Amino acid sequence: MRGTISKIAIAMGALMLSAAGCAVDGAAVAEPAAQGTIGITLPTTARPRWVKDGDNMKKQFELLGYTTDLKYAEDDAAAQADQVEEMVDNGVEALIIAAIDGPLMKDALEKAAADDIPVISYDRLIRGTPNVDYYATFDNFRVGVLQGKAIVDRLKLATAKGPFNLELFAGSPTDNNATFFFNGAMSVLRPHISSGKLVLRSGKHEFADVSTVGYERKLAQTRMAGLLTKHYGSAPLHAVLSPLDRMSLGITDALKAGGYGTAAKPLPVITGQDVEVDSVKLIAGGGGQVQTVFKDTRELAKVAVRMTDMLLRGETPPVNDTEQYHNGVKVMSTFLLQPVEVDKSNYQRILVDGGYYTAEQLSG
Ligand code: GAL
Repeated sequence: MRGTISKIAIAMGALMLSAAGCAVDGAAVAEPAAQGTIGITLPTTARPRWVKDGDNMKKQFELLGYTTDLKYAEDDAAAQADQVEEMVDNGVEALIIAAIDGPLMKDALEKAAADDIPVISYDRLIRGTPNVDYYATFDNFRVGVLQGKAIVDRLKLATAKGPFNLELFAGSPTDNNATFFFNGAMSVLRPHISSGKLVLRSGKHEFADVSTVGYERKLAQTRMAGLLTKHYGSAPLHAVLSPLDRMSLGITDALKAGGYGTAAKPLPVITGQDVEVDSVKLIAGGGGQVQTVFKDTRELAKVAVRMTDMLLRGETPPVNDTEQYHNGVKVMSTFLLQPVEVDKSNYQRILVDGGYYTAEQLSG
């Protein structure tokens, strides 16, 4: 058991630091006090958003005088559980985890709890354990709602006669968020499927039938190619629900290989998430992917850093949702941020003027 003395020391250090005028956002930073190390483990460096998440948290923790042990697990769930155990063994003060496979973390988190180490579930909810203290994330159901609405709006389902052909893709079955994205989108799309205005020629509409292990671009591409061959012959595909930009890019590749992307055979309406540069460029160009969903990782990092810092000082972090996220064992105290839809009309203002990307990054 970690002693009370170290907690008091942490609290005193934090007080001294705040007296010195240190702030997460603040420019005036006093000589950093030794606040201890925060262990952070994130899914992968292969998707840029996680790299930004990691960089932002590291920077903000350092401003508060902490050091960080930031690790990526490259989508290997067992390796991530090992990382957590190692962090516990190394005596981190707190853990921030965006889990690849939450339930696989169970033993590692039991070890953290035995050492009194607070755990924050970051972006993705860790399910099946009591040993997770807080959850910081975006409204993931809303992500799906934005994607579903984009399809409804772009196909003008309110007035157009249809029917239109749609295919569904969902995210990784081991990521709790993936069901939230899918359920959010289906809350908008299902009534139009029931009325017959949207037709799934593949007949696949259950999460388990349309999910994509690891959100892999290649898997999405292969599945899309197969759907075209099997169900589309000369029939046009009008829309594809894709939960994530990486997958949307793979889906777009398969569609282009299948002859889509010409005046005679335009690309269907495709959705996405995570404002990946290649997707933003497609959206800016028009045709095919029409939107993506922006989760401002700078804001999420701020929330997680503040939560951690407050917990270590013995304070109660503010939350704004205590109902939606049940991890199978308990309802989580959650801080939810709002995701923002990005399309051709606003990407410049939100992403470039907002300082997330430079204009050069999005050009060419
Ligand atoms: C989700 C996350 C998304 C996306 C995806 C793939 O859990 O909420 O924003 O990054 O994982 O990494």
